[in-house]
Amino acid sequence: MKSFLLSAAATLALSAPALGVAVWGQCGGIGFTGSTTCDAGNACVYLNDYYSQCQPSTATTTVESSTVASTTSTAPSSSNSICSGSRTKFKFFGVSESGGEFGNTVIPGALGTDYTWPSPSSIDFFVGNGFNTFRIPFLMERMSPPATGLTGPFNQTYLSGLETIVSYITGKGAYAAIDPHNYMIYNGQTINDTNAFQTWWANLATVFKSNPNVIFDIQNEPYTITAQQVFDLEQAAVNGIRAAGATSQLILVEGTSYTGAWTWTTTSGNSAVWGAIQDPNNNIAIEMHQYLDSDGSGTSPTCVSSTIGAERLQDATQWLQQNNLKGFLGEIGAGSNPTCITAIQGALCEMQQSGVWIGALWWAAGPWWGTYFQSIEPPSGAAIPSILPQALEPFL
Ligand SMILES: *[C@@H]1O[C@H](CO)[C@@H](O)[C@H](O)[C@H]1NC(C)=O
Ligand SMILES: *[C@@H]1O[C@H](CO)[C@@H](O)[C@H](O)[C@H]1NC(C)=O
Repeated sequence: MKSFLLSAAATLALSAPALGVAVWGQCGGIGFTGSTTCDAGNACVYLNDYYSQCQPSTATTTVESSTVASTTSTAPSSSNSICSGSRTKFKFFGVSESGGEFGNTVIPGALGTDYTWPSPSSIDFFVGNGFNTFRIPFLMERMSPPATGLTGPFNQTYLSGLETIVSYITGKGAYAAIDPHNYMIYNGQTINDTNAFQTWWANLATVFKSNPNVIFDIQNEPYTITAQQVFDLEQAAVNGIRAAGATSQLILVEGTSYTGAWTWTTTSGNSAVWGAIQDPNNNIAIEMHQYLDSDGSGTSPTCVSSTIGAERLQDATQWLQQNNLKGFLGEIGAGSNPTCITAIQGALCEMQQSGVWIGALWWAAGPWWGTYFQSIEPPSGAAIPSILPQALEPFL
């Protein structure tokens, strides 16, 4: 992609006054006031009502061309009644199944009192509705008791609880993303030992290496740590996982600042470092999270606007395209009201139309959410009546 951008720039320099919009730039949408003409070799492609984008045209294009929407796409596509244009379906679409990480102030805690594992009936419900991916949060302190540390033995009781639900999920042909839900903090201290973190992941990957439907989600939402430090720890983990013989599975990496999509290219510092991620087996995606309430935390059922989903993902989508990387939206959530539902639809439309996002997961299912407004736990979670049919199922 970098070499493509260079050649596009060279073409531009030869072809004339730079009045058009560069590749991947915005060229239309409600409220947009800039140029709607793309540089030569690109076409303005409608993504949603709020965003049209200059994308490389597959057709032979002359400098004079001012046609829009003339690109042809070979990606698998379909249409639904919500987004216009062609969409690339997600390979991975599902929910986080919360519970193993609950009660994080009580270590090791007791199963059924402080924490729980996802319900098989919840997995069945989503698989029956066409979903295929489940993220399973757990706590590193329960897996690796602090007395023996990150390089010590795993707690076999806790590990077998994780293995049981993972086997249940993958036995149905679905994917299970195992998620140390620790914010890059272990036993109260920010993780800073790259070798120990690599060993920890190599040991865990060894347990699951023969199951191709397991996904390794390196770390949930690091924060109070720099982007570079997170990158170094996670690159070491990726290398450790592959060296352990887990070579076929998808790996998800998360950045600092809670891996937020909306700050990926700005305050987090993530965009400056993550373009360098390497995977010997070339099966990695950048996991980002995005909520649609005012502070982006997923704690209020009020969304900023009906367009906030697409808006908050836009820069991250462009960064993924520019860096030839795949994205995975590991957490999205919002309230069950018309503004939020439209905002979620806008986010998922943009993701599927961009072609760079391979997956998305709702936060969250799980047996213990009670009345939490984002709970999608069947049969009566708050997100079941409206979010599920209106904002998620159209994107299967
Ligand atoms: C291992 O995990 C089980 C189940 O949570 C717990 O009861 C036990 O105390 C743990 N053992 C250690 C050494 O942490
Ligand atoms: C790494 O973390 C430990 C605590 O876990 C701390 O004692 C140590 O000073 C840290 N080292 C560096 C280089 O930050």
